[in-house]
Amino acid sequence: MATTTRKKQIGLKPGGDRRYAHVVGWGVEIPERVLTNHEIEMMVDTNDQWIRERTGIAERRIADDRDTTVTLGVRAARKALSHADLNPSDIDLIIVATSSPAYLFPATACLIQDRLGATDAGAFDVLAACSGFIFALGLASAQIRAGMVNTALVIGTETLSRIVDWTDRGTCILFADGAGAFVLHASEVPGGVQHVVMHSDGSGGELLCAPSGVRPTWNGTPAPDVLTQMNGREVFRFATRVMVSATEEVLDKANLTTSDIDVVVPHQANLRIIQAAARGLDLPMDKFIVNIDRYGNTSTASIPIAVAEAVESGRIRPNDKIVLVGFGGGLTWGAALIEWQVMATPASAAREVVREGWYIVARIRSLMRRVFRFLEAVLGGSPTSEALRAEEKARRSSSKPSNNDKPER
Ligand code: UT7
Repeated sequence: MATTTRKKQIGLKPGGDRRYAHVVGWGVEIPERVLTNHEIEMMVDTNDQWIRERTGIAERRIADDRDTTVTLGVRAARKALSHADLNPSDIDLIIVATSSPAYLFPATACLIQDRLGATDAGAFDVLAACSGFIFALGLASAQIRAGMVNTALVIGTETLSRIVDWTDRGTCILFADGAGAFVLHASEVPGGVQHVVMHSDGSGGELLCAPSGVRPTWNGTPAPDVLTQMNGREVFRFATRVMVSATEEVLDKANLTTSDIDVVVPHQANLRIIQAAARGLDLPMDKFIVNIDRYGNTSTASIPIAVAEAVESGRIRPNDKIVLVGFGGGLTWGAALIEWQVMATPASAAREVVREGWYIVARIRSLMRRVFRFLEAVLGGSPTSEALRAEEKARRSSSKPSNNDKPER
């Protein structure tokens, strides 16, 4: 099994060697449908020139009606696993960062876990708006470095077009859909995700928010106004400040300075915010990865998409020190320092076939579980008190320590 192979490769002694969390795979899912500024001109009182000059955006992508935050995330994850040449069964942990989940619960991560057939993985969501991917990366890498898990999947996935008010020119020009995923893996080779800083200030919560639709009281009427609302100017001011402070803070933690950075991957919110960050950090713009012109602001997906493109185009190379930095609703902001070690290694065709087969089996397994649950409910009815007592008795007797389990004195 791949897990065994990988574990052998990294040769970690239990509780012994220092562990590092490396990014060993990455994948993106970009919806095909392009929405241009000219099309938005038909919807609200705006124009292409204004949008380009004030945001740097020329076009963005909108998910197909059949797609959801889950399906985009699944496709990005499958590409990342393929890159890493790992199977879904190798994943111990899935963390999804999203600002546009299909449900308050179940977590998007659980639905993706089911679709992938990642049967050994714990899965949950992180809600930190556009900083979510950095927060999720911080959690996953800490779990790996602490020895709690070996392999983690971190996904940023969005269908923001579904929570955007398409009559509000202050927001609808910005937000878009897409997904990006990283596979993180334990290694004894120094490098990988080195430091992550995370910050929040809930006093600015109303500056950028999307009410959930939850009723204000148990017998109240659901809030009608559930779409994204933003005070653009205030968010802009906050963003230009924290992009600089978070980058400096994460570098401080590693005893590095801005001159040690090879590449900065900023959250793609507005080209002018990125340019202000470059000025604040006294770094040339060519150190910054920018793709906002093509994709707009994809919230949690923007950083992994930009990283994946930069690796594929050779802008990020082995041994590069890269800073990921972002901000978002909450307010939240954060940065991660990564020493990039891994280049894309094409997966073997045979293992690709195994993975494809695994995904088909995962769908069948999921269906069977639903059918089984249905039959159990229909045929078994509610458990009787006798059945519950018998089950409890069996549980207790099986958890009693046998003589062999006696602790050593
Ligand atoms: O992931 C984090 C998400 N959020 C952000 O990063 C948002 C940060 N903020 C921004 O990117 C910018 O504030 C915006 C792009 C939202 C707005 O740009 P701005 O340069 O801050 O414009 P503004 O709000 O100061 O508005 C300037 C003018 C106003 O007109 P008046 O009052 O000067 O006559 C607006 O009504 O531009 C007008 N305006 C527009 N005009 C054409 C606002 N939106 C538009 C528009 N098209 N789409």
